[in-house]
Amino acid sequence: MKKITIAIDGFSSTGKSTLAKELANHLGYIYVDSGAMYRAVTLFAMQNGYIKSDFFDKETLVNSLSAIKLNFKFNPDLGFAEMYLNDVNVENEIRTIEVSNLVSKVAEVSQVRTKLVEQQQEMGKNKGIVMDGRDIATVVFPDAELKIFMNASAQTRAQRRYDELISKGQDVTFEEVLNNVQERDYIDTHRDDSPLIIADDAIEIDNSYLNKKEQFDLVVELVNDITNSI
Ligand code: DC
Repeated sequence: MKKITIAIDGFSSTGKSTLAKELANHLGYIYVDSGAMYRAVTLFAMQNGYIKSDFFDKETLVNSLSAIKLNFKFNPDLGFAEMYLNDVNVENEIRTIEVSNLVSKVAEVSQVRTKLVEQQQEMGKNKGIVMDGRDIATVVFPDAELKIFMNASAQTRAQRRYDELISKGQDVTFEEVLNNVQERDYIDTHRDDSPLIIADDAIEIDNSYLNKKEQFDLVVELVNDITNSI
């Protein structure tokens, strides 16, 4: 079977990574969570004091980009690759609300985007990859054979993220999570460099009322149609 490139974009907490992971496991493809890379750069900036809620030293972050080494290492127990920042596993640290609150600011910086897009394109050069993010179908892999844009209402998405954070023992309120989702939607769609937009040839899936299995089956059918026709 010929391998293809699958780009999955969409708003935060639309279940992109869950779908992308399952799809990659099913197809024997590599899965890359591009958001984890933006989160890892944000964590680096936080650890070095370059960014706080009311402060962002963009210039120093840009000048330090060569000191940031990002890797994914597959964890067979979890069934997906975890994010490493300078050889340290940061998979949990990058998922906190503190990182979520600052990541959109870091993701607005063009030099950060250029560095990460380059690495993402390198990871996908042999196809057989499922990557999720915001600009995958438009910037990273504009020639991807399958482009999916995922959406769901802000309320539905905030509830999902809230349940996830609570189950991990984090101390957050639903309002805090909803605010974060809405604020990130705004920044992600309004930034100058690579804003979140639907690619002309993307297939839009609103999963507010679709369960995971229905959605998975739908996408597998799309993949089969494409791989059978090339
Ligand atoms: O998918 P996520 O919520 O983990 O992504 C974290 C942030 O990173 C999100 O607010 C926007 C940014 N991002 C981006 O700008 N481009 C991508 N390809 C992926 C994520």
